[in-house]
Amino acid sequence: MKAIVLAGGSGSRLYPLTKISSKQLQAVFDKPMIYYPITVLIASGIRDLCIISTPQDLPRYQSLLGDGTKWGINIEYREQARPEGIAQAFLIADDFVGSDSVVLMLGDNIFSGGDDFPRAMHAFAGGATIFAYHVKDPTRYGVVEFDRNGKALSIEEKPVHPKSGYAVPGIYIYDNQILDIARSIKPSPRGELEITDVNLEYLRRGQLQVRRLSRGFAWLDAGTSTALQEASAYIEAIERRQGIKIGCPEEAALVRGFLKLDQFEALLDEMPKCEYRDYLAGVAAEIRRLDGLP
Ligand code: TTP
Repeated sequence: MKAIVLAGGSGSRLYPLTKISSKQLQAVFDKPMIYYPITVLIASGIRDLCIISTPQDLPRYQSLLGDGTKWGINIEYREQARPEGIAQAFLIADDFVGSDSVVLMLGDNIFSGGDDFPRAMHAFAGGATIFAYHVKDPTRYGVVEFDRNGKALSIEEKPVHPKSGYAVPGIYIYDNQILDIARSIKPSPRGELEITDVNLEYLRRGQLQVRRLSRGFAWLDAGTSTALQEASAYIEAIERRQGIKIGCPEEAALVRGFLKLDQFEALLDEMPKCEYRDYLAGVAAEIRRLDGLP
């Protein structure tokens, strides 16, 4: 399974921050926003990633992340010339997807919690899998209604009278039919290729599965200044309380076995003396202790 991280868009709600830097490069507490989705993907066992962003911002992602070797993964890059919709990702990256199944993750969605995603990816057997997260005000989101077995019954974008309290977060798993489906959908009245139209097509084919994210799972999006601030405060609160970090790709790569301990420790040598490095050094020390290494 491969993964696309969509990190373009206009970020107009974060203006003027987004005048100098892409939304998904802004800080969420102590790391760039894009570290969070990348960490989720690495922790789910995905090694092949494609990052899509604007022509101006793509070089910044390239200088931040490189080709992924340092984290034991492969990262490719593709440009989205204009923000013409989330589903356009599959037209832009069709050669990257090839004959595989693919996860699409929005670069401004931040998740923290259990192992729901690795489980879903492991269990994926075709069609499409989307997730459902209970929210207080579903009218602002894509809303999904599903039966006891997780079979989707309806999806509606920003409904006035929602049929359920479950919003659809920005992570989607598709089999290879996605390439044809993305080619077949037409732009919406707002001129975008909508991800909801993709999901509706899977629904029409009877192949849309919904997994409810477990209680205690956090889903934050960071699209407005207030949401960005709240996401930072949330991450800070958990990190300070627990002494663990959320959204460290290096740590996820080590835990997942994409990096060996000596490769991981070599990364630390390249970092300046800082709290992030101290944290990773603590992770390495704990593994040495558990493995009885000197
Ligand atoms: P949005 O937050 O809906 O849009 P935006 O980022 O352009 O922000 P604003 O509404 O403030 O102008 O996008 C959701 C995510 O998808 C976000 O990570 C950006 C990304 N995106 C693209 O990369 N390309 C696109 O064409 C669209 C529509 C979104």
